[in-house]
Order: sequence, then C-alpha cells, then structure tokens
Amino acid sequence: MRWLRVVPCLAALFCAQLTLAQSSVPSQIPGHDAVLLGTAWYPEQWPESRWEDDLRLMEAADIKVVRITEFAWSRMEPSEGHYDFEWLDRAIALAAKHHIVSVLGTPTATPPAWLTLKHPEILRIEPDGQRVTHGNRAHASAASVIYREYCRKIAGQMALRYGKNPDVVGWQIDNEYGYALMSYDDETRGQFRKWLKSKYGTLDTLNARWTTAYWSETYDDWNEIPIPVGEHNPGMMLEWKHFITTTWADYQQNQITVLRAHVEPRQFITGNFMGFFDGFDHYPITEPLTFAAWDDYVGTGHLDPVYNGLSHDLTRGFKRQNFWVMETQPGMVNWSRLNNQLNKGEVRVMAWQAVAHGADEVGFWQWRSALNGQEEYHGTLVGADGTPVPVYTEASQIGHEFALTQDALRGTAPVSEVALLYSYDSHWAIQWQKHTEKYDDIGLLKSYYGPLRKLSQSVDVVSANAPLEGYKLVVAPSLNVLPKDLASHLLEYVHNGGHLVLGPRSGMKDEFNGLQAQRQPGYLVDALGGRVEQFYALEKDVPVSGTWGSGEASIWAEQMGSLAPDTKTLLSYGKSNGWLDDQPAVVTRSYGKGRITYIGAVLDEKLMTAAAAWMVQDSGVTPVFGPVPDGVEVSRRRGNGKDVFILINSSQEARNVALPRAMKLLLAGKAASSVELGPYGVEVVQ
Ligand code: GLA
Repeated sequence: MRWLRVVPCLAALFCAQLTLAQSSVPSQIPGHDAVLLGTAWYPEQWPESRWEDDLRLMEAADIKVVRITEFAWSRMEPSEGHYDFEWLDRAIALAAKHHIVSVLGTPTATPPAWLTLKHPEILRIEPDGQRVTHGNRAHASAASVIYREYCRKIAGQMALRYGKNPDVVGWQIDNEYGYALMSYDDETRGQFRKWLKSKYGTLDTLNARWTTAYWSETYDDWNEIPIPVGEHNPGMMLEWKHFITTTWADYQQNQITVLRAHVEPRQFITGNFMGFFDGFDHYPITEPLTFAAWDDYVGTGHLDPVYNGLSHDLTRGFKRQNFWVMETQPGMVNWSRLNNQLNKGEVRVMAWQAVAHGADEVGFWQWRSALNGQEEYHGTLVGADGTPVPVYTEASQIGHEFALTQDALRGTAPVSEVALLYSYDSHWAIQWQKHTEKYDDIGLLKSYYGPLRKLSQSVDVVSANAPLEGYKLVVAPSLNVLPKDLASHLLEYVHNGGHLVLGPRSGMKDEFNGLQAQRQPGYLVDALGGRVEQFYALEKDVPVSGTWGSGEASIWAEQMGSLAPDTKTLLSYGKSNGWLDDQPAVVTRSYGKGRITYIGAVLDEKLMTAAAAWMVQDSGVTPVFGPVPDGVEVSRRRGNGKDVFILINSSQEARNVALPRAMKLLLAGKAASSVELGPYGVEVVQ
C-alpha cells in the first residue's frame, strides 16, 4: 500500500574497486538462479487439492519463489499455543517439487481474533483516541510489550520448524511494517518519554534544544510531554519520528533475534518496504537485515521510469547492495483512484527495470485473489476460476527471460560514480515547514536524478552519512538538516577531491530541527566562501542566467552573497522582486582537492539538464555505456569480471540503439552491433 574532479588514473581505479567491493551481491540465493521471478501465494486460502494446479502453472511460467504465510497467523496458530504447521510443511514441499523455493513471512501484521479478544489493549489507538477494531491488518501496537511477546512466540515456532528446511530460503518480517502506524496510548506515550529522557538526560537540555520558551512550551516534568498530533514543536516532531524509527527497529529486532537463534545463516531476513514511504527512517531500520526489499506499485496511470528508477536506487541505497522487489503489480492494483491496467508490455518493462537497477528477485502480488476479503479486484496472474488471465503470458515471458539471462547476471550489481544524498530528517523538516505549498523535496530530488541518471547512466541514492570515497560526484538536493558531524563528513569528501553539490534549503537546521545560529549552508559557509543572504518563496517564476544558459527559477530562490574572492557565480537572477535582482543564484568554489557548489533555486528542466552536464563534466564522470535514444534507459550490472547492459524502451515507439561494438544480445540469442527495440522493448547485452 501506499502510499569523484578528475583524479589521477590510479586513484580512480582504486575508488572503482572500493565501490565494487561495497556492492557484493548477497541477495542472490546461493546455488540458485541469479535473478528470480516470484509471486505471493496464499495456500491457506485454498483447498489443498488446488495447490498443485497452481504450482504447475507457476513452474510453467518459470516462477522460482513463493512468498507465503505473512497473513496466515490464524491458520498456523488457530488457538493460543496450538500450532498447526502440517499443511505448511506440505505446501512448502509441494512447491519444492515444482522447483519453487519459499520465503516465509512472519504473520505479525495480522494478529488473530483470539489474541485481540484476550488482549484488546494491543489494538492500536488512533490519534483521535479511537481504538481500532479487529478485522483489518496492522491493527496491533508495535510498542506493546504484550504484543511483541506473541510476535516472538509465533516467529520462534516458525523458525524452529523451518529454520533448517532446505526449501525455505529466507524470511520477511511482518508486512510493510504496519505502515509505521503507532498507537497513541499510555504505553507508547510512556515509552516516548523514557526514550526522550535517555536521549536528553535532563529536561533543561530538552527545553533548550527545543527552545520551549517559545509559546510557553517549557516542560518541568517528563510526564508533561505529549505525543505530537498535528502541528507541534519542530524538535518534538522530529524526535517523535526518531522514536517511531526506534520502535519499529525494536519491533523488527524482537523477531530477528528469535529467527536468528534457530535458522541457518543461509536463510536471509528482510522486510518489504515502500519506496519513498516516510513513516520512519529506513537507513537504521534496514541495517540489521540481510538485504532490503520493496513493493513497487504504479497505482493509477503508467510507469514513470525516472521516478521508478529513483525508487529502486533509493532501495538499493538503504544497504548499498542489491535488493528484491518483493511485490509488484500484475497489471493493476485495487487501492488507487483509478485502477487501470498497465499496457501490454509494461509489466515486463517494470520487471526488467527492477533488475537493471539491482533487483535480484521480482515478485508479483498476487497469484490469485481470495474469493472474499478486502482485495478482490486486485490484479493477479490467475483468475477467480483458477485459469491464467492475459497478463500471465507476459509474466511467463519474464520468467523465461530471467532463466535465459541468469548465468550472465549472476554476481553482478550496479556500480556508480554519482551519488545523490537522501536524508529523512531533512525530508521531514521541509515537509513540516514548507513555506510554499508547492515545495516538493522528492520532486526536486527527481529533477536532479533525471538528467544525472541520463548522463552517467548509473546513480546511487544513499544516506547523507554513507561512505562517499568511491564517488566522483555527490549531490545533496535538500540537505536541510546538516549538523556539525555531517558537515565534517562532507567536508572530508570534498577535501579529498570530491565534488559536492548542494541544493536549496541546505544547511539550515540542526539535528533538533532548530535553526542553525548561522546562515545557510551552516557549517559549510566557510568552505563554500558564500552564504544565503535570504530565502524567498516565489509567487512567480524568476529569470536566471549565466554559465549554464538562461531559464527560470520557480517556487524557491535563495539570494547568495558574501562571496570569497575565489568563489565563482555560475547563475544570477534577473529582474524579480527587487531583492533578488542581479544577485547570485548558484555559486561554486574549489576547496581542498575538490569543489563545493551551491544551487540556491529550483531550476527549470533545461537549466537542470545543463547543470547536470556541468557537474558530470567537471567531476570527470563517464557514462557506463554511451549514447542511447530518448525513451531508452540503459543500465549496467557489473561483477565477476563482466559487464551486462540492460536496454529498456519504455516508450510506445520503436527505437534503434547502436552498440559500441558487436555484442551478444542475450534475449534475441544472437550477436549484433545494434539493437532494434520495439515498443516496450527490452534487450540484455553482453
Ligand atoms: C501491499 C501489501 C500486499 C497487498 C498489496 C496490494 O503492498 O503488502 O499485501 O495488499 O499492497 O497492492
């Protein structure tokens, strides 16, 4: 649901190797295929006599993985302490007979009715004070000590039974982590206060960091601190998000601990995340997992390859390694404003785009709709009658193609010279105080990603705190929260020869979501040799011109100034509100062995393209492949001494791609020096 400056050759070589080492490919199942097709399957919803028909159809489509059990608690533990796993033993064994491995989901997004009846206090209280009723999912409180004990028990029983089962390859904990929903109850409130106390030590410190002298917000007793609902003190709101992150990390660890106690190390443990979903900070949450996975849905409309590519790269960046697409739509969903079917060929484009960006598995949700239940209309591979629906044929094609290319793709992963920095703290800080309703930091990230991806053909999206030494270019479009240690981390990167580009609103806030007692970009002002004199939310577009050509700034403009003698202005504003007229909009300066650039405005597409071209050129970034026509995305997976390129035409017109030399076309099964891609055409070249 939804919701590296040109460096001497040797140094460049060293950096490339470093990046490669970081990108080992632990998400591929040892001894199994390199890239796998999967589906969510719910044997508990069907008579056992039906299972083999389903599995035969899956095998025929080269489906190699089923994810099961993530909602099957009431079937596995029909009453407290009475476990029934025999049906599951048989389901896993039957799947294996059809060469399909199982990923087991812990069923903790759906506590059974006997549990919520016995312990109604585990049911979440909504922000408005209402307790949720049983009968949906994500209805339990992640903070509940009692609930966690039940989660530990069921996960433990499953681990004991399947931790050594050769046909079980891994585990998914919970499902989409309850969309990070919290319970606004006394237990959670108490935990939040305790968490604040352990972080701040004294109320004096907390009051100072949150500047509670403002609006008489001063706290004299920890018990006075509420859970923020709606608009609140920005410091408290950020800490509430941090607390949510800790709560879900602990909720997850409770299950990881019991799983790891009983399961073989070869079995992976993951969770299914949701792209840019911002309920918690995904970097700490994914830290203890074997690899990250996400659920990739378009919803209404059609694939936006730039946004979807960005979302894949975000997920790959969580742990800086390959990932899985645990769920994707077999054509359509049921939860969007208009649940249209993707065009014929688009599902295949989506599956290949996932692999191109580092997915080692793509799983459809779901195989077949339950005959009743909340999601009867959702897209499936098999209809209510149990026979294939039209998109099954496309899924089979994907399955066969994955099987065909597995040898080439085994042990490979994307390797990039460009990194975009993402920060949940900065995202939240901007979201809560947008200043102009049009400000969209994810849209801004995308506006940088689009041209940078096109020019470099490979971009990593990583945490602002991630190691940066392998990158030629690091771009932080919205690093609003920029505390001192993070600034030092970035400065070290620049000092050592990196090019750091900052976007608007950078370096305004400290780690408590308070204003830095200095101008933007805060601790980076000295290195930049420039600062933001004033920021302006724009009523209308402002002309900008300079080294990158001319165009418009919209939504947001920062007046740069107080420039050091060697700080250069790349773009300036034209006539506007008087304040901005003829003032610098983009400035850059050499610092250490590197460079730091500050872009103070939201630029139009043409200027962003020119800006990206300048960044790439100045930093010595080289494209991984070479020129491809518009509408075609090229990606490289590298490893085991080989480079494999995936060409995807997401347009509905044919495209011809010239190859740098004669290469093997793995899908067409021939060698050629150009590729003819039909509408929604895909080719894998080596
Ligand atoms: C989510 C859930 C699935 C299902 C799909 C429907 O991602 O994880 O259980 O509800 O959405 O699109």
